[in-house]
Amino acid sequence: MLKVGIIGVGTVGSSVVKILQNSKDLITSKVNQEIVPVLGVVKNLSKKRDIDITLSDNIDDILNNDDIDIVVELMGGVEDAYEVVKRALLKGKYVVTANKALLAYHRYDLESISNKHLGYEASVAGGIPIVKALKEGLSANNISSIKGIMNGTSNFMLTKMIKEGFKYDEILKIAQDLGYAEADPTFDVGGHDAAHKILILASIAYNIDAKPEEILIEGIENITKDEIKFAKEFGYEIKLLGICKKIGSEIDIRVHPVFISCDDMISKVNGVMNAITVKGDMVEESMYYGPGAGGDATASAVVADIIDIARGHNDSLLGYTDNKSTYTLMSSDDIHTEYYVRIHVADEIGVLNQITKIFASKNISISTFLQNSDEKTATLLFSTHKAKEKNIKSALVEIEKLSFVKEKPSMMRIEK
Ligand code: NAP
Ligand code: HSE
Repeated sequence: MLKVGIIGVGTVGSSVVKILQNSKDLITSKVNQEIVPVLGVVKNLSKKRDIDITLSDNIDDILNNDDIDIVVELMGGVEDAYEVVKRALLKGKYVVTANKALLAYHRYDLESISNKHLGYEASVAGGIPIVKALKEGLSANNISSIKGIMNGTSNFMLTKMIKEGFKYDEILKIAQDLGYAEADPTFDVGGHDAAHKILILASIAYNIDAKPEEILIEGIENITKDEIKFAKEFGYEIKLLGICKKIGSEIDIRVHPVFISCDDMISKVNGVMNAITVKGDMVEESMYYGPGAGGDATASAVVADIIDIARGHNDSLLGYTDNKSTYTLMSSDDIHTEYYVRIHVADEIGVLNQITKIFASKNISISTFLQNSDEKTATLLFSTHKAKEKNIKSALVEIEKLSFVKEKPSMMRIEK
């Protein structure tokens, strides 16, 4: 019998307890032994809960219990969770976590001390087995890119706002009630949660130890009806993507909203669903699709990791024998892509001429143009051919200084 202690019995933890109890026969038939959730730890013991497991509010009741074989960390946060996972590993326990924030900062620290298996399938894209796909199924490939929708909350919100006209705050509250959002939902809408996930995948693909502060992260907070209108006019959807590309010896890692063609499969992924495409030299392109958040979908991945432990899996955290990457992180100034630019101006003679002159001086070539005018002002919406990020940014700084420009210009990247 394997005994499991669960630290954090909230949305995901409760589902883990239920799966282990309700699917006991199925799981036992796969591993030839019982896996029993024996103790859960929560912060507030007086909260009403619909689960049948002994609870404590003392983490040591799990960490100091020599009978517990597997510690499941589902409390969230970074530094406290790191101490808990570190202590569990040093005590010789197996660990399973869904905590991508923890791994975004401490995956290499944990790799260096994890003498026992540490499963983290649930940390990226909820129920989709993308960690296993990348670490095991695609391990013979040189990966050239990983790209996808990795945050269920923001995709759910974008879908509902764009297709059904929901208001931002109203739909965020619904995502929280459905158990999709992080304890601090600014992690979801600000792109940080997706950044944690793409950093984990980048490590599996390239063994690169980048931290969230070192990469470009933008969220969905500044998308306006102008972007929605532009997308409709030019055949795009708006999606928040995690992107990781190999460019020579550099790795370009970033998270931001993009315009993506309505013909691209990722553009058709709606609601809480996530989808990730991986390009490898042998397999070419493969795509992984499924529910990216929610108690049961995430717990499905947590329990799969517990089953792997019962089956004796014991590989390195990121799938490498050392932690020396041959790659370096690319500066976000060097991003090379197509752009959309929105500029709100006074509707005067010569405005367009002055703006296009600045674009030309920065080697930026315009691809499409749309103008929405009212009596005295106009909103100019441009898309460009491929340009360098640093050139776009410096063009926007110059444009903002023009006397007829009414507010800070905004831009969004177009992903092809
Ligand atoms: P949650 O519903 O807020 O549950 C957190 C649980 O941890 C609660 O039971 C809470 O106790 C307990 N807890 C928090 N701090 C604690 C502490 N210091 N000591 C003891 N217990 C503590 O969160 P969740 O949605 O289940 O997420 C858990 C983890 O899974 C997070 O790392 C999250 O990023 C990750 N994750 C979540 C999802 C999802 O869809 N929800 C998907 C993938 C990954 P109380 O119940 O008393 O408050
Ligand atoms: N808050 C996360 C999301 C949970 O919405 O994708 C899954 O990691």
